[in-house]
Amino acid sequence: MSKLIEKKILCIVGARPNFMKIAPVIRALNNSRHPFSVRLLHTGQHYDAAMKQSFFDQLHIPEPDVDLGVGSGSHAVQTAEIMKRFEPVMDELQPDTILVVGDVNSTIACALVAVKKGVPVIHVEAGLRSGDRGMPEEINRVLTDQLSELLLTTERSAEGNLQREGISADKVYFVGNVMIDTLLYNLSSAVSPAETIQSCLNVEQAGSTGAGYGLLTLHRPANVDDPVVLERLLRTLVELSEQLPLLFPVHPRTTQCIENAGLNHLLANSQLYLIPPQAYLNMLGLMKDARLVLTDSGGIQEETTALGVPCITLRENTERPITVSEGSNTIVGSSPEKIKSCFSDIMQSGGKAGRTPEYWDGKAAERIAEVIGNWLYKT
Ligand code: UD1
Repeated sequence: MSKLIEKKILCIVGARPNFMKIAPVIRALNNSRHPFSVRLLHTGQHYDAAMKQSFFDQLHIPEPDVDLGVGSGSHAVQTAEIMKRFEPVMDELQPDTILVVGDVNSTIACALVAVKKGVPVIHVEAGLRSGDRGMPEEINRVLTDQLSELLLTTERSAEGNLQREGISADKVYFVGNVMIDTLLYNLSSAVSPAETIQSCLNVEQAGSTGAGYGLLTLHRPANVDDPVVLERLLRTLVELSEQLPLLFPVHPRTTQCIENAGLNHLLANSQLYLIPPQAYLNMLGLMKDARLVLTDSGGIQEETTALGVPCITLRENTERPITVSEGSNTIVGSSPEKIKSCFSDIMQSGGKAGRTPEYWDGKAAERIAEVIGNWLYKT
């Protein structure tokens, strides 16, 4: 039998939530029975050590073969800059396919360049829809799926979403959730919350979290960009922190928004503790042992479902409905009354533990490597 020629797959990452998704995919592609040549490109959308390098180190992601170094900017500037810098790389590397993950600006920018060069795009985490076109990520999801040749989904709801948008079912494969591959792979190495708390807070503050804590993340434009909304949310959260100390790893954009709105004084002397953005294993440890999590992140809704930790989602909708129908997630939006009522329910009842959704079993990336191999090497 003649030896198969290695097919070249260029994997793309750009922002923090991409890193935990790409780690198991690269590992599975490299260990696959199919002979792939795998390269990694980082757009540079996220560049701070806390937002990028700590993830590469802890998750053993190989250093990128190419770093476009785009950095921050408006959506248009960031997307355009990635496209401009990515095009010559495509010409030089001549991949057989590119693989993009998730829904960030890097995802759509690279998909658009590749498809116009006639290079097929693989989308991991395809078909999720919040139905809210006000979210930049929703635009990125819809457009990336339209451009993709192979669409790999994390939950069953995605298939119906893609079908409604006219995408042919033979391009779509339900493979499961690679973010949960990473979670299960790393769970036993999670850093203990005590260690993280001690390194971030002074002794007196750290002591007050001994009776348990909640974990908070907040970075969506809808929650942090408008000073009025942000102030209302922070006041509510400070109030809740009197019942349960809240640890708040702050995204850089949120730090800026709190500062610009002059809201730091609200947090002084409260039990809402601001800490720097956390590396993956530290965040995993904090999530695992939290009594509850409040968040507007997409990925954390899924991670808390996999961990069975109650999650209160501070958004009006979710693109990951299985975290609500089967998992531990409740959608409450940003109304103080709803947040407080859900918080009290969980404090009293312990919240819903939920169950782990189908194919969130640590093997999604292996299934992905198999699907890609069969697709790329079909005669
Ligand atoms: C991006 C993703 C969002 C994801 C989030 C996770 C899009 C449209 N959004 O939003 O889906 O949930 O990442 O973090 O792609 N900044 C730094 N250091 C960094 C990166 C960013 O200081 O390493 C600051 C900059 O001031 C920047 C701001 O954060 O302007 C926003 O970063 P950006 O990548 O544009 O979008 P995110 O809000 O992080």
